[in-house]
Amino acid sequence: MPVAVPFGVYVHIPFCASRCDYCDFATWTDREHLIDAYVTACVTDLTRRRVSGLPVATSVFFGGGTPSLLAAEQLTRILDAVERTEGAEVTVECNPDSVDAAKLGAYRRSGVSRLSLGVQSMVPHVLAALGRTHDPANVRRAVALARDAGFARLSVDLIYGTPAESPDDWQRSLDGALALGVDHVSAYALTIEPATALGRQVAAGAPAPDDDLQADAYVRADSVLAAAGLEWYEVSNWARPGEGCRHNELYWTGGEYVGIGCAAHGHTDGRRWWNVRTPERYIAAISGSASAIAGSEELDPETRAEEAFSLALRTRAGAVANDRAAAVVSDLAGQGLLERGLVEEQGARIVLTRPGRLLASDLTARLLLAGAASSGSGPGPGHPAALALGTIEC
Ligand SMILES: C[S@@+](CC[C@H](N)C(=O)[O-])C[C@H]1O[C@@H](n2cnc3c(N)ncnc32)[C@H](O)[C@@H]1O
Ligand code: SF4
Repeated sequence: MPVAVPFGVYVHIPFCASRCDYCDFATWTDREHLIDAYVTACVTDLTRRRVSGLPVATSVFFGGGTPSLLAAEQLTRILDAVERTEGAEVTVECNPDSVDAAKLGAYRRSGVSRLSLGVQSMVPHVLAALGRTHDPANVRRAVALARDAGFARLSVDLIYGTPAESPDDWQRSLDGALALGVDHVSAYALTIEPATALGRQVAAGAPAPDDDLQADAYVRADSVLAAAGLEWYEVSNWARPGEGCRHNELYWTGGEYVGIGCAAHGHTDGRRWWNVRTPERYIAAISGSASAIAGSEELDPETRAEEAFSLALRTRAGAVANDRAAAVVSDLAGQGLLERGLVEEQGARIVLTRPGRLLASDLTARLLLAGAASSGSGPGPGHPAALALGTIEC
């Protein structure tokens, strides 16, 4: 049987029960009345794309917002509209508050193979400081329900460096996550977004996260997770061998995918494109037989090479051997990065060391400049390494 070319479908579900204090994602807490029309629009969008030759998907990712806020029938209606390869990876982001046995059983029967739980912390006062509505007991309950429904592949999202979080609290969260028996952890440093409750508190004088403490927390996460058999495979992601998220790996290797739903991004035929931002505009566009795409950009070869380099450098595989990498490697000694132990050469690849991962964005920018200077081209438009972090308009 021929091996399917990797192709991803990202579906954005822009609804949440409440807004967490740190979150600036494209999601709404007062639009429940739109959910049914939104689901219909996603199905219509997918059906039209299938008619015009959408490749068979090797991975599907429901992200949000809170996909698990949808009734099981609504989510599976969207999933049924995606033509998938046998064994396609299908991930649903779930809030521990919004899952139950019936919902998870229906997901499993319809082909969902992986759940990503928004846990953030296993310590009640840290959860409260983040404005989360669940407690650690809800997380344990959600994981037990997922196991009962037959889910072998579970991931948790954690956030570190909340000002209310002590090193011991972070250790408790890591231990608590591992005690759940998950095979994948995504851990993000708390970022203060200006247009959020935390952003306003910090602007009014509340303490911001401390860079040094966040660096310590990263190092602790990397040691604790690795000791438990979860190796880093991207700067913010750890997994048991073979359990990396294939959908995210597609993003990091410059693969092709479509974005369904408002604020979703796609990358097809050498173009990057993004949909209208709000659910209302998405529903209106699709139900009016119009395109929901709000903008796009063609990636010239230079930009493409820069992006590929930035994304690859964030992964354990490192930046692949190509002209740019070769130019950069020859310049590394000049920059002192090898001597300072921030990057290492593995054959013709450049791989970030643990201290290097702490400085991933800065290092990528420096290496891109070095590569551009060595290859005689300009620095290019400068796509930040943060590009690696998501495919929705935040
Ligand atoms: C869009 S959320 C989806 C998960 C689900 N809605 C939930 O929260 O339970 C994806 C993840 O992004 C991370 N995230 C969102 N805003 C962040 C911020 N300001 N700083 C760090 N991580 C953030 C959180 O870990 C969150 O679980
Ligand atoms: S973190 Fe998740 S649950 Fe909280 S507001 Fe953002 S998308 Fe919604």
